[in-house]
Amino acid sequence: MPVTIRPLHPVFAGEVAGVDCRRPLDRGAVAAIEAGMDEYAVLVFRDQQLTDDEQIAFTRHFGELEHNSRAGHVRKPEDHRLGPGIADFSNLDKSGALMSPEDRVWFFKLADRLWHSDSSFRPVPAKYSLLSGRVLPSWGANTEFADMRAAYDALDDRTKAEVEDLVCEHSLIHSREAIGFTELTPEEIEAFRPVEQPLVRTHPVTGRRSLFLAAHAGAIVGWTIPEGRMFLRDLTEHATKREFVYSHAWQPHDLVVWDNRQTMHRARRFDANEVRDVRRTTLGGDGPLIEQPAYDG
Ligand SMILES: [Fe+2]
Repeated sequence: MPVTIRPLHPVFAGEVAGVDCRRPLDRGAVAAIEAGMDEYAVLVFRDQQLTDDEQIAFTRHFGELEHNSRAGHVRKPEDHRLGPGIADFSNLDKSGALMSPEDRVWFFKLADRLWHSDSSFRPVPAKYSLLSGRVLPSWGANTEFADMRAAYDALDDRTKAEVEDLVCEHSLIHSREAIGFTELTPEEIEAFRPVEQPLVRTHPVTGRRSLFLAAHAGAIVGWTIPEGRMFLRDLTEHATKREFVYSHAWQPHDLVVWDNRQTMHRARRFDANEVRDVRRTTLGGDGPLIEQPAYDG
């Protein structure tokens, strides 16, 4: 069965038919999905009842899993519920019970409801993220995506010239601080120290330019903090106008794949007394976008 894609939104996002993500893909199918990602930036695969191993195997058709020596979370390694290669974005603790609303892991996760691009706080930001919806709550919990190419294209010429060579500092500390979660250990502060990212990036295949924004961005290099944050807030407001946003309403066993180089996303509220078990695999990027002050992976 050929791979086909049906648009879900006027400017981006598509739903794929003709792919069983549990089975090895032939080269033609991989190429069709990659071409679809380049064009749509977000692809939805319905009815994919994946095990963790199957999700990892599917992900590896498109490159190498993200590996990091630098921590990206406050959860301790011994508290992980899932095995290596797959990240737990559920509201469950290691034993499978609902997380306490006062758990600092929960506080940390809440900031994923701010617009962001995955791993923009790492020296090598992520390429694709693949999120599998295993158990979903009865209300809310959409994932929203914003097309950063369309947002860039819609900037006026003066603003395009202004953002052209700007560099931002990204850190998990900034996005957590934004919701008032500031109780980090000295080790966490060291692990989350800022990295630099360009504010405009160019897609390596299509050549389309996009704004590289995220709640992790807390400063513009060479600007005062208030001036930089205000400009980033203005740009984020522009980039997340409804005309650039696709809101994904999850069905069980959806697999949603997004290109972090071309989009931002955010989680939406749900009833914390219900289980939301979603699991993510992540593809690493090709390398740092600019030279990093202290690059250690
Ligand atoms: Fe995310």
